[in-house]
Amino acid sequence: MVDFLKRLDEFRRQEESEAWQGTFAEYLDMVVERPRVARTAHARIYDMIVAAGVEEKDGQRRYEFFSREIFGLEKTLQRLVEEYFHSAARRLDVRKRILLLMGPVSGGKSTIVNMLKRGLERYSRTEEGAMYAIAGCPMHEDPLHLIPRELRPEFAEKYGIVIEGSLCPVCRLMVEEKYRNRVEQVPVKRIFLSEENRVGIGTFSPSDPKSQDIADLTGSVDFSTIAEYGSESDPRAYRFDGELNKANRGLMEFQEMLKCDEKFLYNLLSLSQEGNFKAGRFALISADEMTVASLCQKPHACFRGLIFLIIPHLGSGKGHFLMRVFPKGPGRAPSLRAPLLRRSNKQQR
Ligand SMILES: Nc1ncnc2c1ncn2[C@@H]1O[C@H](COP(=O)(O)OP(=O)(O)OP(=O)(O)O)[C@@H](O)[C@H]1O
Ligand SMILES: [Mg+2]
Ligand SMILES: [Zn+2]
Repeated sequence: MVDFLKRLDEFRRQEESEAWQGTFAEYLDMVVERPRVARTAHARIYDMIVAAGVEEKDGQRRYEFFSREIFGLEKTLQRLVEEYFHSAARRLDVRKRILLLMGPVSGGKSTIVNMLKRGLERYSRTEEGAMYAIAGCPMHEDPLHLIPRELRPEFAEKYGIVIEGSLCPVCRLMVEEKYRNRVEQVPVKRIFLSEENRVGIGTFSPSDPKSQDIADLTGSVDFSTIAEYGSESDPRAYRFDGELNKANRGLMEFQEMLKCDEKFLYNLLSLSQEGNFKAGRFALISADEMTVASLCQKPHACFRGLIFLIIPHLGSGKGHFLMRVFPKGPGRAPSLRAPLLRRSNKQQR
């Protein structure tokens, strides 16, 4: 027992030694030295997969990240990593796609999603996967959002780092009131992704469409403070605690997408297409997260514009139908919204 208590103590010490807190000025020094701390969610996931090892054989690559738990899908997974994750990591157009895993019941869809979630939790604890957020932000947002838009082109030119997105309402208010816009003094801390602590990993599963509230995704008015601040558009009277808020910087799993009410899909589409979503009485809220959903049956053609990973039946020999990316080439999918929603209505009836 004494031995185990020692282990507990070691574990705690290690956790404490990994923690980091400083000012935005200090963080900037770190970013310039190690730009990888400012990666997008997709780029972080891709790097995590590659970091686990790649085995090359007969012109095919096997990604060790998956090979411990998933068997017989090497080709599919190779395409998933190279055509989706790699391209998305380079900010190509597929980054705007929801990853849709499609395959038979017990085909390994949930296993793949869980591996990505647990992998991110571990990776964020490593030196290489370290990531940072504005301290006190309910969405643990990227500290680089503190750099005003006007200065971003200059920053990109000098350091080669492109900044997307803008401050969330909570941080905006804090920076104005508490720091009088002296962004360099704003505190930044290292974060560790964790589904249990609701940091950077979220899961949404639809329930009864009549009773399910959009607040599950985008947060809600905080009735305990609204009387004090008097307005729904005051960020102190709003709880940014929906799954989309909490999954910022990481991965969001959307279960049973076809059974979901259309109002939820609107948020999902704007998140993947534009990198933001609407919550309460606030301007659009920026978020950088990868969205993954899974399906058993083949979706209607209206799902054009999403990306499919088709998981073949093991042993069916039909390994040739793998993954399709719609539409081919660049460009958005303008017709996506309406038919997708119509379809989801039909599903409910
Ligand atoms: N390719 C595979 N290699 C190894 N194990 C697999 C594979 N596919 C499925 N399994 C195993 O089968 C079980 C069920 O898989 P999983 O829950 O991931 O399937 P699913 O596609 O999510 O199914 P459902 O449609 O029911 O949600 C798990 O224990 C998983 O480890
Ligand atoms: Mg499943
Ligand atoms: Zn914030």
